Amino acid sequence: MSSGAAGTRPVDRPAVSSISDAAIHPGWVRITHWINVIAMFVMITSGWRIYNASPLFGFTFPPAITIGDGIDGLPGALLWHFAAMWLLVVNGITYVTLGLLGGRFRRKLLPIRPDDVIRDLRAALTGRLSHDDLSVYNTVQRLLYAGVIAAGVVIVLSGVSIWKPVQFQEITAIFGGYDAARFVHFFAMASIAGFLLIHVILAILVPKSLRAMILGR
Ligand code: HEM
Repeated sequence: MSSGAAGTRPVDRPAVSSISDAAIHPGWVRITHWINVIAMFVMITSGWRIYNASPLFGFTFPPAITIGDGIDGLPGALLWHFAAMWLLVVNGITYVTLGLLGGRFRRKLLPIRPDDVIRDLRAALTGRLSHDDLSVYNTVQRLLYAGVIAAGVVIVLSGVSIWKPVQFQEITAIFGGYDAARFVHFFAMASIAGFLLIHVILAILVPKSLRAMILGR
């Protein structure tokens, strides 16, 4: 049992450092992040199969990289899409609520100044961007994370507009109607897929960041 004396704390290592060591990514960030990975994977791959049934552009996605079963894969893909939708929405609301109320978004994602974005982008492209302190996001990361969170909100709202265009007609109207909401939904998916490509490459290039997102430190 501790004596309770102030002298029991090592003088060269203030108590707060052990807290910050463990808190690069607190448990709720890691849990919601990895649940989101599963939900996004199912949403995107089943969404591609649903798109194939009624393409917006002159191409379809290879069935081998989509999920879904049944005639043309559509019924199965819809079931997967709506099942993962609940996971994505409940998990997303949890992450965004805790991020806003607990001040994480303000601390980690702000400020985003255009000058800093240009400076950090230049440094990143010339291999001079430091990853020494994983607890601080550079401005390019901040922009990408804030952007993908915003894209997450848009993809859910445009999805709701397509799913229940009568019940949620006010939301559908914000996107300019059912047909426009389909395009918004598609482009939100494309931005998230584009983000993911860069994000996963960076996570592989800086493996200690991946370790921190799994173990917290
Ligand atoms: C296999 C896929 C993924 C891997 C390997 C991965 C990996 C990581 C890693 C390592 C970090 C920490 C970055 C750092 O400390 O510098 C991170 C943070 C983050 N990732 Fe991912 N990620 C994946 C998928 C996703 C997806 C699908 C999304 C959203 C669409 C996403 C959104 C984010 C966000 C917003 C953060 C910042 C979280 C915060 O600090 O609150 N990631 N990811």
